[in-house]
Amino acid sequence: MAVVPDESKVVYNFLGKSGLKVSNICLGTMTFGENQIGMWGQASEDMAHQILDRYVEWGGNFIDTADAYSSGKSESILGSWLKKQDREKFVIGTKVRFPMSADNPNSVGLSRRHLVKSIQNSLERLQTDYVDLYQMHLWDNATPVEETVRTLDDLVRCGKVRYIGASNMLGWQMQHLVDLTKMMGTNPFISLQQQYSLVSRDSELEAFQVCKANGMGVLPWSPLKAGLLTGKYKRDSRPKEGRIGWAAEKGLGAQAWPAWDSLLQDDQIWNTLDTLEDISKKHGKSMAQVALRWVLQKDIVSSVLIGTTKMTQLEDNMGAANGWKLSPEDMAALDAVSAPKLPYPYEFNTRLNKGRSNAFIPSYTVQNSSF
Ligand SMILES: NC(=O)c1ccc[n+]([C@@H]2O[C@H](COP(=O)([O-])OP(=O)(O)OC[C@H]3O[C@@H](n4cnc5c(N)ncnc54)[C@H](OP(=O)(O)O)[C@@H]3O)[C@@H](O)[C@H]2O)c1
Repeated sequence: MAVVPDESKVVYNFLGKSGLKVSNICLGTMTFGENQIGMWGQASEDMAHQILDRYVEWGGNFIDTADAYSSGKSESILGSWLKKQDREKFVIGTKVRFPMSADNPNSVGLSRRHLVKSIQNSLERLQTDYVDLYQMHLWDNATPVEETVRTLDDLVRCGKVRYIGASNMLGWQMQHLVDLTKMMGTNPFISLQQQYSLVSRDSELEAFQVCKANGMGVLPWSPLKAGLLTGKYKRDSRPKEGRIGWAAEKGLGAQAWPAWDSLLQDDQIWNTLDTLEDISKKHGKSMAQVALRWVLQKDIVSSVLIGTTKMTQLEDNMGAANGWKLSPEDMAALDAVSAPKLPYPYEFNTRLNKGRSNAFIPSYTVQNSSF
């Protein structure tokens, strides 16, 4: 592998208004280990360790996993690598909430009981005695949120966790969590890990405004919409490769493995891909790199979570980290073509507030967003 020039290496950002510094590209590990649903292209332990080693050569220090990824195997693969590293150099984030066992009703959710057990299991798999960022993977309707917030704070106080974060939140849920931490005097949520890309911008409407107002860093997941934004899938041919090909063959559809038929029907997606391709040609960059730069250049983003199944994908994606930028005109063109349609009351509220600003009142609008 070629030596990575210093000017291309990652930059380090604060994670929200915390004092923690993370590389602007975070290595996601959802693709590590055979998973329970048999997705194609998952990386073996050996390949995963090679990907991790190379990510470090690009300057990366931030690695994201979850207890549920490959039923704990993603954490174990990361742990067997981490054991051989200087632990202090890395920022490790993991998550909790999804079911971990079919025959135990307490191995799911955000209860005190499950959180305490789950962090212990994650620490054992990761072969470390603390994680830097412990994230609620999703809201839990069945547990009082005060119980969750208090327990997460206890985990920070007893040293198993350094910071807490959230993921996949609705706007009101995130605001409620922020308010509760203030009322209860607990440690704050410093980040929100949310799906965010040129074809998934709905979180700009609410959740990201909560982040902006409260100094939380956004950690976009699926920034390439499972590979769609690399341009490798063409509208006129049913995909046979990659995660989207796998979902098409199995007739499946979910946020992280979108259904081909629903992608096909959405003209805005294909118009966005056309603009992406034009801009990538202009810069001599890959479409993946331009799609990642669009997210990286949003002011609310602290670090973008990439996923890779191959070393070539890692190299391509890390090429978005530094050394070049999209112009304001490029950003505006991408913002315009991918602008989400605003339902009521967003459209009404936005249109009638256009031009109304007061320098003494902070604007929470995401930079360059179309509203
Ligand atoms: N909080 C959550 O609920 C949540 C949900 C999902 C993911 N995440 C996190 O976010 C991370 C990234 O998510 P993601 O994997 O969905 O991200 P993504 O960047 O949208 O998709 C990654 C996939 O796209 C394909 N790909 C990536 N780079 C490519 C390139 N340069 N050229 C061609 N194909 C390329 C690969 O799949 P193929 O080779 O199979 O085509 C790869 O596995 C995950 O690892 C995880 O840590 C979090």
